[in-house]
Amino acid sequence: MSAGDRGERDEDAVHWSDEYSVGFGVIDDQHKKLVRMTNSLFEGCRRGSAAADEALMRTIREAVEYAQTHFYTEERYMRETAYPGLEDHKKEHEAFVSTVMAAVNGGKRGRTEALSLARFLKKWLLNHIAGSDQGYAPYLAGLPGGGGEPPGDGGA
Ligand SMILES: [Fe+2]
Repeated sequence: MSAGDRGERDEDAVHWSDEYSVGFGVIDDQHKKLVRMTNSLFEGCRRGSAAADEALMRTIREAVEYAQTHFYTEERYMRETAYPGLEDHKKEHEAFVSTVMAAVNGGKRGRTEALSLARFLKKWLLNHIAGSDQGYAPYLAGLPGGGGEPPGDGGA
């Protein structure tokens, strides 16, 4: 599925949908946090250049922290459940980190850059979370936490 399938524009807000769920509460909560971050960045972009710039700075900071926490969580569960796609999956995470670090190191500012990052995050949600992340979902299904009970080390 892509944004275009619903007649949405690239800059439209993302709405959490059950098709994004990996059926595992801790990880779904972290994914929902990324939905909020993405929408908040789009919102900043709509409110003019100063708001966009402020939202961009905030989102870059949050995305660095998010990548550390969230990818660690996912990769830990994938390792624990011997998910065979772990190495390929990690490469996708590394690509996300590279994009975020390019934003950090490139000193990116302004509404155009903010919109570009927001679109990247949205694409990530639609392609990685609704796509690649679904691959490990069956492996996590037997673990405690599958019903949405966070074990206490992650969450939003
Ligand atoms: Fe992932």
